[in-house]
Amino acid sequence: MDRIVSEEETIEDSFEKSIRPETLDEYVGQSEVKENLEIFIKAAKMREEPLDHVLLYGPPGLGKTTLAHIIANELGSNIKTASGPAIEKSGDLAAILSNLEPGDVLFIDEIHRIPRFVEEILYSAMEDFTLEIVVGAENSSRSIKIDLPPFTLVGATTRAGDLTSPLRDRFGITNKLNYYTVDELKQIALRTSKVLDCKIDVEAAEELARRSRGTPRICNRLFKRVRDFALVMGNGNIDLNITKIALDKLKVDELGLDETDYHLLKSIIEKFDGGPVGIEAIASSIGEEQTTIEDVYEPYLLQTGLLKRTTRGRMVTKRAYEHLGIPYKEK
Ligand SMILES: Nc1ncnc2c1ncn2[C@@H]1O[C@H](COP(=O)(O)OP(=O)(O)OP(=O)(O)O)[C@@H](O)[C@H]1O
Ligand SMILES: [Mg+2]
Repeated sequence: MDRIVSEEETIEDSFEKSIRPETLDEYVGQSEVKENLEIFIKAAKMREEPLDHVLLYGPPGLGKTTLAHIIANELGSNIKTASGPAIEKSGDLAAILSNLEPGDVLFIDEIHRIPRFVEEILYSAMEDFTLEIVVGAENSSRSIKIDLPPFTLVGATTRAGDLTSPLRDRFGITNKLNYYTVDELKQIALRTSKVLDCKIDVEAAEELARRSRGTPRICNRLFKRVRDFALVMGNGNIDLNITKIALDKLKVDELGLDETDYHLLKSIIEKFDGGPVGIEAIASSIGEEQTTIEDVYEPYLLQTGLLKRTTRGRMVTKRAYEHLGIPYKEK
């Protein structure tokens, strides 16, 4: 069940929390985003004003939630968290906003999933720190204005395109997070090794990084699994050989592709002659949600040049045929 403010956490959540960097300095990569934020945070502190509202967007697992916590930490503020899908009624959002204290960071995850009629409450809250609510019965209803303390909204979304423009325009700072380079992921793996107190060779860290789909969350998850193999098959230290064996067993290939990526590329090749084909047809042929394909699978396949988007639909590239070992015919 979705909750407005989450209290319970899973083991996976607490693992993520334990390895989450807490300062901008510890946050690996995304250097442009970090440099800008550092300046805006410093300026806000010098002016003794809240930081302007921040929108963070990009594929899952790239560090949006982590960065939201870091922003609060660097500002020396408290963070309150909420999640778009759990905000169903105007009252839900009004309750969250009226609980804010001066200088708080309000983090709303999956902000694109707040219903439109609820979202409108955010407009005046973000712009003038006022909350406008309608009270009373239908025939005698009136709207009242409540002053809110100055706060910073940090919104995160995997789909910036789904935000309405009035909402998007109210964020003074907008940052897109990009896939991480192998070198950056290697640093993340080495950092995780320290936090978990589990040794990993540099070549093993690099192999892990290469096969992590440009994504810190995947890098850390694979780290945990490889650690299990190292413990059972070796002396607990992670070396290159164990990493390769483990990742092959986990069916993660040299580019970081998993079974779903294979299924997706192969079905475009086998059922649609390599494309172009519409996203709906791909979704139904592999039995995945269209949004999952668009948010999770496709961005990485586009980034690695295995898939291409054309006006007539998605097409598998020559590079993908080569990677899958399927003969390519020029069209
Ligand atoms: N820049 C980074 N440096 C080091 N570790 C990172 C970085 N970014 C993310 N991580 C690690 O990756 C994990 C996933 O990051 P996070 O939960 O912030 O992703 P997200 O973008 O919020 O994902 P989602 O869209 O699924 O909510 C975190 O536990 C964190 O440890
Ligand atoms: Mg998140």
